[in-house]
Amino acid sequence: AKEPVRVLVTGAAGQIGYALVPMIARGIMLGADQPVILHMLDIPFAAEALNGVKMELVDAAFPLLKGVVATTDVVEACTGVNVAVMVGGFPRKEGMERKDVMSKNVSIYKSQASALEQHAAPNCKVLVVANPANTNALILKEFAPSIPAKNITCLTRLDHNRALGQISERLSVQVSDVKNVIIWGNHSSTQYPDVNHATVGDKPVRELVKDDEWLNGEFITTVQQRGAAIIKARKLSSALSAASAACDHIRDWVLGTPEGLWVSMGVYSDGSYNVPAGVIYSFPVTCKNGEWTIVQGLAIDEFSRKKLDLTGAELTEEKELAYSCLS
Ligand code: NAI
Repeated sequence: AKEPVRVLVTGAAGQIGYALVPMIARGIMLGADQPVILHMLDIPFAAEALNGVKMELVDAAFPLLKGVVATTDVVEACTGVNVAVMVGGFPRKEGMERKDVMSKNVSIYKSQASALEQHAAPNCKVLVVANPANTNALILKEFAPSIPAKNITCLTRLDHNRALGQISERLSVQVSDVKNVIIWGNHSSTQYPDVNHATVGDKPVRELVKDDEWLNGEFITTVQQRGAAIIKARKLSSALSAASAACDHIRDWVLGTPEGLWVSMGVYSDGSYNVPAGVIYSFPVTCKNGEWTIVQGLAIDEFSRKKLDLTGAELTEEKELAYSCLS
């Protein structure tokens, strides 16, 4: 039998946490033959709710679940973890300045970076979900210098899956037949959902949709603003789809992407496609042997170029804002 993998979920008493931990315990993230030990972290204010989640995990009697650590102690939470899914953060509340929210998250991600660096298992893979996801991941990277940059990523898979979903609905085809959309840049409303290389079967999506105006307009804004549309409908933000996307992200990273298929991940930019280096930027990637590689050589037309630059500029600006919160 396989040794259990320790998976940390921060903010585990929250909405996404509640949807995510049972998925992990059922093997959706790491495979149906992979035992797991869940480490759940939240803040003291949520300790009682966190304990309730732990009680439900016990009650669910998941065969793959070999242990549960539920704690408000960040060191205990991080100790020995092989995978860390960072969902905890400070939400933007009405009337709050962007800088104030950034400042709260910078201090959270700075201290959690140190705890992970000192106590996580070697080669721990980190996925940041909490917003601002790209910049929280960047701060985590900067304050955990001994964790390789390639091990620190952020979630844009939800946006990627939303793009697949929109194309599937539009063409009335199975979502599993839509392949190789791309989310470029920031997990924010400047992200660029790109279908120029996407296919259904062996046909380009552009050829099948036959409506460039829709693809360059409403399609993009629908994906960019889907989060807001869910909040409007549910009065709560996306949770099951975010949890599912987090499982997709880690599963593909650890177990690999199928031949010929790529996915979107926020990763430390090396300046590929002439986007800013040194920020966490979402690229098309393939994964093999537990490592991601940016898909190279895709043609970028003028329309796309502008969008890649715009979201890159926003990330540079966020990085500066984050750094200004450190002093
Ligand atoms: P939520 O508010 O229900 O849960 C967040 C949890 O984090 C709460 O239980 C809170 O107590 C906890 N928390 C706060 N500070 C913490 C700290 N320092 N350490 C550990 N836990 C802490 O929020 P929800 O809906 O679960 O969303 C979580 C985050 O994910 C938000 O930042 C949200 O904006 C983001 N998000 C990102 C998506 C993406 O695609 N990247 C998609 C959807 C949400």
